[in-house]
Amino acid sequence: MPGEVLSLLAPRPGEIFLDGTVGGGGHARLILEATSPNGVLIGLDRDPQALAQAASVLAPFGDRVILRHGNFSEAAALLPDLGIAALDGMLLDLGVSSFQLDSMERGFSFRHEAPLDMRMDPTTGISAAEVLNTAEADELTRIFREFGEERWAGRIARRIVRTRQERPLTSTEELAELVRQSVPGGYAPARIHPATRVFQALRIFVNDELAHVSRGVSGAIDLLKPGGRLAVISFHSLEDRIVKRMFQAETSGCICPPRLPVCNCGHVPRLDLLTRKGVRAAAAEVESNPRARSAVLRAVRRRP
Ligand SMILES: C[S@@+](CC[C@H](N)C(=O)[O-])C[C@H]1O[C@@H](n2cnc3c(N)ncnc32)[C@H](O)[C@@H]1O
Repeated sequence: MPGEVLSLLAPRPGEIFLDGTVGGGGHARLILEATSPNGVLIGLDRDPQALAQAASVLAPFGDRVILRHGNFSEAAALLPDLGIAALDGMLLDLGVSSFQLDSMERGFSFRHEAPLDMRMDPTTGISAAEVLNTAEADELTRIFREFGEERWAGRIARRIVRTRQERPLTSTEELAELVRQSVPGGYAPARIHPATRVFQALRIFVNDELAHVSRGVSGAIDLLKPGGRLAVISFHSLEDRIVKRMFQAETSGCICPPRLPVCNCGHVPRLDLLTRKGVRAAAAEVESNPRARSAVLRAVRRRP
């Protein structure tokens, strides 16, 4: 949704933007063009490979671009070192990129045979294989249910535990096949592959994605100048729910429990909503990029 993002973020010449998920640099390039000739863009990504790609795409903008390897949930700690105190705008385009999904060796997709890694930042944390081969059945059930809304979570978890008693699970194809065997009708034609939810759940867990979204959105609001804009694109309902609730809390006046007869919270809204409802990708974009079907864009502006 580059057009919609640009119109909500409204970048102007000379402004300072932070792209917390710079990825392949597509949105960043548009922001740099709109802030020309002297705007600055700080691009973060937790994936060093994505950052390398962004560096080559954004090279023509020279020293107007500052790229850093890091998590957007820690953006506040980074800005003082760059001599920047506040931002005119910030973008979070959440989740995994097509580049990551198509990088076979990363293990994000059940469509490619690969080691079960799934870390966006391979320099830290534990891989999906480590989770699958060590977590208790109850914990695996919780992960598949909570982060994948998987109906057959318990069955799949128990089969994983049985299988790993004979040999550790190591590959994407092995896991996809195990899920197929665990769910009723796993081999029948279906709209989505039966392993879709389990792969999503593992990826969210391995990368602790939801906690970073909460911390990242809250930190972003603090970093905005008066009048500064924040746009967030979510790719599943778990992320979108967090963003929607945080925006609602920061745009409403009273946040007292409904049973209180008189307001005593003294809450002052810090934001104005720029999108009353989540914005969805236009049909033409979904046709050329089917992943855009799940995207929801929300934006806010910091009050003066
Ligand atoms: C959907 S892509 C972004 C694509 C980008 N907007 C573009 O135009 O090319 C998401 C990117 O965000 C990164 N990412 C996801 N969560 C992150 C986090 N918490 N901190 C930093 N980067 C993150 C991923 O590594 C991935 O490269």
